[in-house]
Amino acid sequence: MADLMEKITSLAKRRGFIYPGSEIYGGYQGFWDYGPLGVELKNNLKREWWKYMVYGRDNVVGMDTAIIMNPKVWEVSGHKKGFSDPLIECKICHKRFRADGEEAVLAHEKEHNGKGSWTEAKTFNLLTEVLLGTTEPKEVAYLRGEITQGVFVNFANVVNSTRVKIPFGIAQIGKAFRNEITPGNLTFRSREFEQMELEYFVRPDEKESAEIYEYWKKERLSWYASLGIDKNKLRFADHPVDKRAHYARYATDIEYQAPFGWSEMEGIHHRGDYDLGNHKLSYKDPITMEEFTPWVIETSGGVDRALLFFLVEAYFEDGERVILKLNPKLAPFKAAVFPLLANKEELVGKARGIYLELKAKFGSITWDARGNIGKRYFAQDEIGTPWCITVDFQSLDDDMVTVRERDSAKQERIAIDKLQEYLQNKLQ
Ligand code: GAP
Repeated sequence: MADLMEKITSLAKRRGFIYPGSEIYGGYQGFWDYGPLGVELKNNLKREWWKYMVYGRDNVVGMDTAIIMNPKVWEVSGHKKGFSDPLIECKICHKRFRADGEEAVLAHEKEHNGKGSWTEAKTFNLLTEVLLGTTEPKEVAYLRGEITQGVFVNFANVVNSTRVKIPFGIAQIGKAFRNEITPGNLTFRSREFEQMELEYFVRPDEKESAEIYEYWKKERLSWYASLGIDKNKLRFADHPVDKRAHYARYATDIEYQAPFGWSEMEGIHHRGDYDLGNHKLSYKDPITMEEFTPWVIETSGGVDRALLFFLVEAYFEDGERVILKLNPKLAPFKAAVFPLLANKEELVGKARGIYLELKAKFGSITWDARGNIGKRYFAQDEIGTPWCITVDFQSLDDDMVTVRERDSAKQERIAIDKLQEYLQNKLQ
């Protein structure tokens, strides 16, 4: 199964999904760049999340907050003190590992022929420091370790500037940074990554908040399933008390059965009044005038992890052929347009017209005139393009094209003037 990660890493680089960051300088551990196909997939994923979490509801609004905040935020939020991982150090080569990373620890011991000698676990803070200012001493600030705090510190702004009333949510997608000690498994654990989060503010009521927590657990799991992840490869893993983040009253992870074992894809946290309480923020009910500190139920997903797991889930081999069975809503290109032969002007001209029209409407449409049709199908299957459209000699007479579907390889003839409607219906 580890082999699958190698295949995906290689495909991701070869076809322009994910490249190692700063590669020409030897890379930089825990940093990745998304290529032309990766950025499409990532944008599609974030768009689907936003549609589901914001546009699909009438009590969720969005935000986009700053990455660097007043350093006081991180003191008050408890991250300066509590945002840490326990680490152990190999006494032979002084490499550091997470104390709870059993697999990596065992693998490392193998490198030393099964010999293991470790220091006691010590905690290391995950916040990434940045130095700001032009004169010495420079001011120490932090790249945000979670995107969440930007939402909390703006709680009163949102309440005062919009019409939200509790219960309501604030959604945000953005970059977060952590000084991870053992980045790895492609983008799974990176030092720069993106999160997609909902902070849902509720009344401070034990029973009601527990029901809302359960509601969001189900919502989030079914979102992954609706975009193609097999439900049998998803599960909830409740955090035992000693593994909960410093802000969580209780918490669960949505885990995916990755090639490297069950792994966290998203966290659902009951944060109680921890954050708004610490920031000394409250809410006044506009009808009863009752004032209270709302509780927060949070859904916090990793964009990069979701993208990686959607790639893993979509990867199929059929003999020599690789097919990425991505949900068409996520696929980087919605369709590819080909002239049957690249050296026949009439075919190329007609195909080009179709390509440009579809591109104007759908944006992510690709063109290929290289090699033979079989090779082009092969190349498009490998990047998950759901439909290939071929203009052949018959098209010149009947104004119809052959549309070939990725997963079934079935072909049908569709009138050129019905192509937009055809794709539109399929993409709904
Ligand atoms: N605001 C809550 C929070 O940040 P978290 O469980 O620490 O909670 C949420 O992180 C999600 O962010 C994780 O489930 C994971 O998908 C993603 N994530 C966390 N650390 C990551 C890392 N180093 N690399 C990639 N994704 C990460």
